[in-house]
Amino acid sequence: MPHSRRDFLRMSAGTGLLLGAGGLVVAGCQPPNPEAGAQLRSSAKSPKLFEVPLPIPPVLRPSRSEGDTDYYEITQKVAKVEIIPGLTTSIWGYNGIFPGPTIDSRSGRRIVVRHHNELPVPTTTHLHGGHTPADSDGYPLDLVMPVGGMRQSPHGHSSHRDMTPTHVSQGAKDYVYPQDQRAATLWYHDHRMDFTGPAVYRGLAGFHLLRDDTEDSLPLPKGEYEIPLMIADRSFTDSGDFFYPAADPSGASPGVKGDYDVGVLGDVILVNGAPWPVLEVAAVRYRFRLLNASNARRYRLKLDKGGDAPFVQIGSDGGLLKAPVRRKSITMAPAERYDVVVDFSRYRPGTEITLLNELGDGSIGKVMKFRVTRKASDDSTVPDRLSEFETLDPSKAVRTRDFSFERGDEHTWTINGKTYEPGKIFARPRIGDVEIWNLDIDGADHPVHLHLDQFQVLGDDERKADPGLKDTVALTAGQKTRIIVRFTGYEGRYMLHCHNLEHEDMGMMADYEVSS
Ligand code: C2O
Ligand code: CU
Ligand code: CU
Repeated sequence: MPHSRRDFLRMSAGTGLLLGAGGLVVAGCQPPNPEAGAQLRSSAKSPKLFEVPLPIPPVLRPSRSEGDTDYYEITQKVAKVEIIPGLTTSIWGYNGIFPGPTIDSRSGRRIVVRHHNELPVPTTTHLHGGHTPADSDGYPLDLVMPVGGMRQSPHGHSSHRDMTPTHVSQGAKDYVYPQDQRAATLWYHDHRMDFTGPAVYRGLAGFHLLRDDTEDSLPLPKGEYEIPLMIADRSFTDSGDFFYPAADPSGASPGVKGDYDVGVLGDVILVNGAPWPVLEVAAVRYRFRLLNASNARRYRLKLDKGGDAPFVQIGSDGGLLKAPVRRKSITMAPAERYDVVVDFSRYRPGTEITLLNELGDGSIGKVMKFRVTRKASDDSTVPDRLSEFETLDPSKAVRTRDFSFERGDEHTWTINGKTYEPGKIFARPRIGDVEIWNLDIDGADHPVHLHLDQFQVLGDDERKADPGLKDTVALTAGQKTRIIVRFTGYEGRYMLHCHNLEHEDMGMMADYEVSS
């Protein structure tokens, strides 16, 4: 009864109560938008706010360089880490850490990342925002089998779909990234068929930064004043493990329990893997590369002090904007990146500034804290012109396509009425073509993501054109939007999907195929 269920969700928005199907009362306080997920409550005692220092993920060094290529190695493995002080969390981590190590590389420089899989399940790794050949793009059925073989068949679960892997690597795979794209904040994460939500939730996510000379030449904050912030919510069991409402806790079959198919919302906010951390800052400008790596949660980030518009947005998913934009708050859907500069020079040492989430109440309404501890000299500035890129002209579009994102039957989500079927091609754009894609959204929130190329969000009566290059557009219930994109570079099969990972796993994904 999908429609009555959706109506129920809509009605419950008014009462501020959301009941889980299994009799679970899942939203203690009023959810700001029950179309966007169901709150899962930790049984672990909530950690104190603003006590843990902000961790910065280590930068991965290449294991070797040859000619025009740098080679990296990552081992995906189970590890035990301390996230909630005093408790141990078993994670799935790239090199055993969460977030994974940061790849910090140069635009135009080819890199090869060998991913070893020592996890108990197959994986496929996607570089989100990457302009990547199809065979390295992390297609959901391009599987890297665990070293030493599988404990369970990759297609052992009941499914009417054809789950035959499109490509199988044993134990490891070399992902080749030509990086023929501009500087940007990218990230990498697991993308396995039906299981992206639980895999990312367990820790399979990391930053991949791409720099270039143009960006380096700008007087933006650098070095210790440039910090990536991965925001992700999680819930925890009383022993400290990640709590994910999998329908089959053994992990053999996909899906989540009850209403969690709307999206899994945790009740602990992690930044770079630490709960509500604190960062000691100097009274200077900082550049923060914000990433929302949550499965389903949206945030509206705000500072509790700092005047009218304390965020200067300099970049978006696809790199620097043309010109900076001052913002009062930053609204981020899953997978979006915002590159912002915050100036702490107006505060005297001793001041504490809290990063708030206006879309949450109580502790969910808080993200992290900055503590100004010292003065320092600062020669950074934010120039009026940041970068150049071509604004695509709608009259150049050779084609328009329509995609509707809707609830399906029986805990599924659909694009154009269909749940994901690997190999069923929804669009066949040609390399070099500019196309307009109309995205039409039902009564839930859907952050829509396109692989391969960055797009531009066209304005209309309801929304302004986005100033940035985007690979994910945040759409909320009932919205429509038009994106314009030029397909470039590589032939092959890519995806359009919702980046609410529960929606993605439950069908809201479609293949498209690029040809020359
Ligand atoms: Cu970040 Cu296809 O995903
Ligand atoms: Cu992607
Ligand atoms: Cu969705």
